[in-house]
Amino acid sequence: MLSGTTISSIIAVALVFSLPTKAAPRQMMRRSTPELSLTAQLQIADTAIDRYKLLSKDEDFVYDFTNSTTPFANRETFPALVGSGTSFSVGQLPACSMVYLHLHPRATELFVLNSGRVLTQMVPEAGVLDSEGKQRVINTELGPGKMTIFPAGSFHTQVNPDCEPANFTAAFSAEDFGFGLVAQETFSLSDDAIAATFGQSIAGEDIDKVRDAIPTDAVIKVEQCLTKCGKQKRHI
Ligand SMILES: *[C@@H]1O[C@H](CO)[C@@H](O)[C@H](O)[C@H]1NC(C)=O
Ligand SMILES: *[C@@H]1O[C@H](CO)[C@@H](O)[C@H](O)[C@H]1NC(C)=O
Repeated sequence: MLSGTTISSIIAVALVFSLPTKAAPRQMMRRSTPELSLTAQLQIADTAIDRYKLLSKDEDFVYDFTNSTTPFANRETFPALVGSGTSFSVGQLPACSMVYLHLHPRATELFVLNSGRVLTQMVPEAGVLDSEGKQRVINTELGPGKMTIFPAGSFHTQVNPDCEPANFTAAFSAEDFGFGLVAQETFSLSDDAIAATFGQSIAGEDIDKVRDAIPTDAVIKVEQCLTKCGKQKRHI
């Protein structure tokens, strides 16, 4: 049997837990959030209508790729994207350049070429095989007006093999698409893990050699093409 005292303690505890739950929504509404970034405020807004109130100027709905420090608009650089589930990139692949083997952890990319020529390679995922039963690699050659798709998480790389720059636009199926640099990330593992991953074919000092040789900029210049075009190697 529960004593009267025990029952009143249980009721008291129940009240303590129930009161804040009822009071919480009101407190949330009253709390001002100036310390949060606009993107953060937009993310916690109760409704889309509230988001429009936070984006009160018409200019809040314009992203100027010609005057921005980043070649992509994500929900951090362009807060109006919050709630849309999308982001966008406009950029130029310089002559004889290659975008590192990379992936986007949260987004499928639709990559459209607007000028020039770009060769792409994409590795979809384990189990997607070619006619010989080997890992399938999807190669495309894009010219103006052509588009390819890089599904979320797929490894991909883009090469501009010509002497002129290639302009592209790319749409992403997430507001914060993110980047994974495959080689850099692999070689950030411990030496033991790398040696095991590559079937002990690489060990000791060689691991450091490979690690140090991986370029750190996202776009690398392709030597042969530079010679063909009579251009100097430069880092961008
Ligand atoms: C470029 O952006 C800066 C900072 O947002 C702004 O002050 C400037 O007016 C912009 N310039 C043009 C040409 O839009
Ligand atoms: C490529 O983009 C640059 C920078 O926006 C622009 O100046 C140039 O005219 C574009 N080239 C073509 C062929 O569209």
